Amino acid sequence: ETPDNWVKRNPNLIRLTGKHPFNTEARLPDLFKAGFLTPAHLHFVRNHGAVPRVSDEERDSWKIRVHGLVEREVDFSIEDLARLFPVVTLPVTLVCAGNRRKEQNVVRKSLGFSWGAAGVSTALWTGVYLSDVLDYVRPVRGKAKYVVFEGGDSLPNGPYGTSQKLTWARNKDKGMLIAWAMNGLPLEPDHGYPVRVVIPGQIGGRSVKWLRRIEVSHQESQHYLHFWDNKVLPTQVLPDQARGEKHWWYDPRYIITELNVNSAIARPDHEEILSLDVDSGEYIVEGYAYSGGGRRVTRVELSLDQGETWKIAEINYPEDMFRAVCHTDPVYGTLDLTERDTSFCWCFWSFRVRHSVLAECDAIMVRAMDEGLVLQPRDMYWSALGMMNNWWFRIAISKTT
Ligand code: MTE
Repeated sequence: ETPDNWVKRNPNLIRLTGKHPFNTEARLPDLFKAGFLTPAHLHFVRNHGAVPRVSDEERDSWKIRVHGLVEREVDFSIEDLARLFPVVTLPVTLVCAGNRRKEQNVVRKSLGFSWGAAGVSTALWTGVYLSDVLDYVRPVRGKAKYVVFEGGDSLPNGPYGTSQKLTWARNKDKGMLIAWAMNGLPLEPDHGYPVRVVIPGQIGGRSVKWLRRIEVSHQESQHYLHFWDNKVLPTQVLPDQARGEKHWWYDPRYIITELNVNSAIARPDHEEILSLDVDSGEYIVEGYAYSGGGRRVTRVELSLDQGETWKIAEINYPEDMFRAVCHTDPVYGTLDLTERDTSFCWCFWSFRVRHSVLAECDAIMVRAMDEGLVLQPRDMYWSALGMMNNWWFRIAISKTT
């Protein structure tokens, strides 16, 4: 019995924290095979507590209170939002800051649970721009600096909440949404039904689910997890020192906002058995890559000799297909990326290698670079909360006879 066992869930997902709370990822090859848009039943889930139970009637009367340093405070229903502001749809990749943490936990146990490399998923999110809502309530000039979001789940240390800089939140190019649909359907309970925030290019933890309240404030979120979680602490801080008391490292500068550049190999998978035809066969190594802040992945490289030499993989950016169309319909509203040059989605890469070459190597490694010329590092940056792991991803190869 768990407090939210009324939620219908895909039994084939990998459970990362036992029965409760519900935290899951798909097997990476399954996620990868599903393609650019992840169906809800394969999308990773990160819940800190029980999912709030919201009936259809409660959805209709659900209010998002927008208040604080604004000229007019408003309680918006979802219908109000859809009526007052243009409805838009954006493809956005969400990534948990703990994606690939398992590799860190193998080196030294962190405070976080072990994500594989499938703590990343992409969906079409439909809602309204946060910037339109903020323009409507008119933040108080000079005083208002942050936008604080709060969810409807109740956690031991108070509700889930986090914040954004107001200047970013008002910038439509950042693509921040208040969303009620995912891939054209109402949000699933695990993904924030009836309404959530979607923050492109930043860690998933910023996309508050079951959105209840938006406060325009002079200071950033004071919510427990905003301050105590989702940070990359200095590597010298040990897990038992990381929480509970404010030490010198209890520093807002260590809070994570944007994602870092990252990539992983989905094919072959760890433990997969390959039968190779060394006389003529060719194998296609494949995987994903992403970066943060709207920055595009500009190169993906593979090494078959432990990082001595690197070769360029081919990159496919399905997000670009959306730049060619401007689509409007009653469900999605406007799906229009024609004017946008930021990249908020993962891309896929592939690399052909002869079976005879693969048979001779003992690891395949991948690394990506983004348009800020930031390259994934060779070495792991271990930290006590186990966040943002992005060292070169590797699949070890051993030979059977
Ligand atoms: N919002 C609320 N209210 N409660 C939560 O526990 N988890 C956050 C974020 N929003 C969370 C939340 C974290 S850490 C992540 S990574 C994303 O939701 C995950 O979104 P998803 O479960 O839809 O994939």
